[in-house]
Amino acid sequence: MDLRVEKRLGLKELVGKVMSAQEAAALIEDGSVVGMSGFTRAGDAKVIPMALVERAKNEKFQIDVYTGASLGPEVDKYLAEAGVIRKRGPFQADSGIRNMINSGQVSYVDAHLSHNAELVRQGIIGPIKHAIIEAVAITEDGMIIPTTSVGNSPIFVDYAENVIIELNISHPESMIGIHDIYIPGEQGKREPIPMTNAEQRLGTIGIKVDPAKIQAIVISEEPDAPSMIVPPDEETQNMANILLDFFRDEIKAGRLTNELAPLQSGVGSVANAVLDGFADSEFENLVVASEVLQDAVFNLIDAGKVKFAAGASITLTKELQEKVYGNLENYADKICLRPQEISNHPELIRRLGLISINTALELDIYGNVNSTHVSGTKMMNGIGGSGDFARNARLGIFVTKSYAKAGAISSIVPMVSHVDHTEHDVDVIVTEQGIADLRGLAPKERAALIIENCAHPDYKEQLWDYYNRAVEATGNAQTPHILEEALSWHVNLAKNKTMKKEIVKA
Ligand code: COA
Repeated sequence: MDLRVEKRLGLKELVGKVMSAQEAAALIEDGSVVGMSGFTRAGDAKVIPMALVERAKNEKFQIDVYTGASLGPEVDKYLAEAGVIRKRGPFQADSGIRNMINSGQVSYVDAHLSHNAELVRQGIIGPIKHAIIEAVAITEDGMIIPTTSVGNSPIFVDYAENVIIELNISHPESMIGIHDIYIPGEQGKREPIPMTNAEQRLGTIGIKVDPAKIQAIVISEEPDAPSMIVPPDEETQNMANILLDFFRDEIKAGRLTNELAPLQSGVGSVANAVLDGFADSEFENLVVASEVLQDAVFNLIDAGKVKFAAGASITLTKELQEKVYGNLENYADKICLRPQEISNHPELIRRLGLISINTALELDIYGNVNSTHVSGTKMMNGIGGSGDFARNARLGIFVTKSYAKAGAISSIVPMVSHVDHTEHDVDVIVTEQGIADLRGLAPKERAALIIENCAHPDYKEQLWDYYNRAVEATGNAQTPHILEEALSWHVNLAKNKTMKKEIVKA
């Protein structure tokens, strides 16, 4: 046996379970529910899914795939396009599976990421026939050490009838020790989660497994698919500056200190760029308590701004992968990966008082946010953890550029075409135009701030026109709307490829 494999396979009784990806893929039963490791393209099994793609060339079979969050192309593109995925949850971000979801070929359950583990416990997700988990090692005392994400792997391993391990020897051994696996007990019987500080460790360095459940071990050397985020631009830099000024005002008001509060920052280019903006600020000793640790977090560790970062996964661009995984020992005592039911736990988000920064696709003049559905109909990615954080955070902040598609779309509309975060969960909105602090404001007060401070100049007059007519039409009601017109901007976009309208002046 390869020495590198021998070193990582501590539990010697498992040596006989090592087999090829094809042999392991043949074990997956048609119609079964499969729980896979992986979270935002990190820590997912890769060679077994590709062997399943090969198997699908000669045999028709389908499985339901549940994961931590989005996976790399092996599952969310190739396996989906091979027709193998019947149902998928709880998050995806690949155009391959997205197109299949939006053409009805894959059934997609878009769910709060903190909820999945409870659904497994309740048997709503399951029974899980197979858990397929990428690991960096299996220890002598029978613990699976995950790789670049923890996600839902612990609950899948616990509840699955069979566990298949993809032992990835390309991940550095120095990954052993960065995970903290704590599993809450059954609902109604569990103790409070004993965390009062985001830097605290609560559990074990790996996932305990009954070795008898391990059905196969497949060796892999495939790296994670790199993240596709684009670098910050002038507008996202501007959004970061606006947000930093807001935090300075919060400090002056005595609500925050220079260390702020544990920060959560969402997926995607915009959230990453906004976090990157902290690099040139005076803020220091920052703690990140997020779900995805993107490039910006490691840049901020390097800049001496972030002293500790915890999440459920590490998702990096190619450049940062080389830098971080090539020198992981430099970061190991400053990072921690947790199960997503802990990173996203409402109890902890509220107790630790997180500042949460997530991205909206669109929002309306009263502060309702759509993060998931383009024009109310087509799934983009999913709600991910944004709802877990926004509702429970000390400050629920949403960022977005004020426009999309070269200005054909206003990100601020009269009424959102789908609601992920209601006005009750949205504290602050930031666009490149400015900020609306909605805390303590009534709907009409919010509308004035959102239109005046956050809307793109090309759409401001159009929004005021709608709002003023809605106030008049409803007799100045609590939340004025003209129902026949509220979604007309999206209708206009579908018909004329723009939300811009001629305003008819009386
Ligand atoms: N209508 C239609 N399309 C829109 C749009 C709108 N109102 N606003 C943005 N888009 C499009 C952009 O044009 C872009 O399209 P492209 O991929 O064809 O270029 C795409 O959406 C992504 O937008 P971008 O501005 O590049 O932002 P992003 O990479 O930061 O992603 C979200 C934004 C909302 C899609 C992403 O943050 C997301 O999926 N969020 C939901 C999950 C979440 O918040 N998780 C956080 C917990 S960690």
